[in-house]
Amino acid sequence: MRRKIIAGNWKMNKTPSEAVQLINELKPLVVTDEADVVFCVPAISLIPAVEAAKGTNINIGAQNMYFEESGAYTGEIAPNMLTEVGVKYVIIGHSERREYFAETDETVNKKVLKAFEHGLTPIICCGESLAQREQGVTIDFVRQQIKVAFLGVTKEQAAKSVIAYEPIWAIGTGKVATTEQAEEVCKAIRDCIAEIYDNDTAEAIRIQYGGSVSASSAKELFSQPNIDGGLVGGASLKADFGKIVNYK
Ligand code: PGA
Repeated sequence: MRRKIIAGNWKMNKTPSEAVQLINELKPLVVTDEADVVFCVPAISLIPAVEAAKGTNINIGAQNMYFEESGAYTGEIAPNMLTEVGVKYVIIGHSERREYFAETDETVNKKVLKAFEHGLTPIICCGESLAQREQGVTIDFVRQQIKVAFLGVTKEQAAKSVIAYEPIWAIGTGKVATTEQAEEVCKAIRDCIAEIYDNDTAEAIRIQYGGSVSASSAKELFSQPNIDGGLVGGASLKADFGKIVNYK
C-alpha cells in the first residue's frame, strides 16, 4: 500500500516571519500517522521553516532548484544548498515555472536527475492546458511530459519519485477536476511508468492530484485508487490544510 503524500505549495506567499507563524499555527492541525506532509515554502524561508518544523511530522520542500552544482547562475539555488539546510523535497516543473520562467520538459529532466544525485525527492509536475483538454490530447501530452522527465532516471529512483498531476485549468481557479478526470489521468501516468520501467515501479511511485484541492474535495479525490495525495496551493495557507491532511 502506498503511503499518501500531501504537500502544500505556498508559491510566492509569506515572508520568513509569517512563514514561521503559519507553521506554528498549522503544526497541531497537520498531525497524522497516515501521510507524509510537506510544506514547500519560498526559498528565503527554507531555513527558518526547517527550524520551526523540527520535532513535528512536517517536512520542508523547496519550490525550485537549478540543475548545476554551482557557478555563474545569478539568482539560482543549487541542490546542495537545499540539502545542507535540511530540505527533503523539491517541486520541479510546476506549470507556473513552465509558463513564466521558460522551463521545459528538458530542464525538468535535468533538474530531476540532479535532485536524485543529491538525495532530494522531486515532486515532478505535469498537466494539460484547457485547450489541450478540449482538443482531446490530455493523455498524449501528459505521457510525453512524463517520458521526457524520466529520461535517464533509474528504476530505483523512479520508485521514490512523486508526480503531481495538475491540470493547468484547475490551478488557482476554484475549478477542480472531477474525480473521474483526475483518476483517469493519474492512472494513465501510472501505466506510462509501468511501460517505461515495470509494474513494481509503477505500483511504488506516488502520484498526487493538484488544482483547487479543498477541504471538501480532498476526501473523494484522495480515495481514488491511483491518487496518492495532493499538491495544494491556496488551501495550504489556511487552517483548511489540516482538514486536507486529515481528509478521512
Ligand atoms: P491551487 O494550486 O491549489 O491554488 O489550485 C495548486 C498548485 O499550483 O500546486
